[in-house]
Amino acid sequence: MTLTFTTEPAVPLPAAERAELLASPGFGTVFTDHMISIDWDRDRGWHSARLHPYGPLVLDPSAQVFHYGQEVFEGMKAYRRPDGTVVTFRPYANAARFNRSCARMAMPELPEETFVEALELLAGTDREWVPEQPGCSLYLRPFMIATQHTIGFYGPSAAYRFMVIASPAAAYFTAGPKPLSVWISREHTRAAPGGTGEAKCGGNYAGTLVAQEQARRDGCDQVVWLDPVERRWVEEMGTSNLFFVYGDRLVTPALSGTLLAGVTRDSVLALADELGYRAEEGRVGVEQWRADAESGALTEVFSCGTSSMITPVGSVRSADGGWTIGGGVPGPVTSRLAEEIAGIQYGTRPDPFGWVHKIA
Ligand code: COI
Repeated sequence: MTLTFTTEPAVPLPAAERAELLASPGFGTVFTDHMISIDWDRDRGWHSARLHPYGPLVLDPSAQVFHYGQEVFEGMKAYRRPDGTVVTFRPYANAARFNRSCARMAMPELPEETFVEALELLAGTDREWVPEQPGCSLYLRPFMIATQHTIGFYGPSAAYRFMVIASPAAAYFTAGPKPLSVWISREHTRAAPGGTGEAKCGGNYAGTLVAQEQARRDGCDQVVWLDPVERRWVEEMGTSNLFFVYGDRLVTPALSGTLLAGVTRDSVLALADELGYRAEEGRVGVEQWRADAESGALTEVFSCGTSSMITPVGSVRSADGGWTIGGGVPGPVTSRLAEEIAGIQYGTRPDPFGWVHKIA
């Protein structure tokens, strides 16, 4: 299937106003001049692919997404490199995960080529919005919603809209390179076997807010989820995956079906091996986490995700007390992996895996 995109140009924000916004973009509140929309219905399949001015949507209040939450999304970034080119990172990995989420949520899959073409068109058109400062990027948010007008719940929506919006972004965690403090949720779980935990759908995030707020009230930055059955095995953090560092050995929780298969997680697994560490998927129990941190066998912990990149975790709080990891300061393995992965993305290091995808 080939879709042809039509273009309705926006009146761009004046350059001086754009420069002011780009000087300190924060995360997630500033948006570029354009967006992408593509519609789907049962008769026509995917159609009406368009680049058009960024702006509010007009949707019927009975659109299914508002009532039953049929929605999926992705998160990825475009980076400006020293030679002025703009690239994304492993966009086909995000396209494939997007379609796995669609399949789980009974939504139509979008051809991977169309997904990537939509990103290229938006980031290429709005390339002036890709920040230049180190550590900044243009965050790309592809998402899809159910638009059929009905509050009957007889089956999947008969109509959908896929959209992409773009937002210049600085660091996700505002405290700078300071290691995160995390809080282990014992009362709530994020996902259950057979549920939607592996899909990147909005409902998975909404359900975590109550525990995230509990973590904040206890003075922690982020919540950590345990497995839903034994409430013993570490799964993931509020918005990212976790790695445990034992000297030169790295362990990340295996994909059990209840946690998100992060693209950064997968990249760290590959890159760690390339850099001479031993990286593996496994199980980390919460008691083990504490015992290994206290004995010093566990030298570092870090979180990884698209928005937050690689961030050290320095201290843990749980109902039965707390502990620190490696003295609560960023460790050398975390710092090296963070530098290497950012180097590939920003073009200051070679790209041995061919992960970088040129846009403009
Ligand atoms: C991302 O890291 O890209 C995500 O989708 C997480 C989101 C909560 C910002």
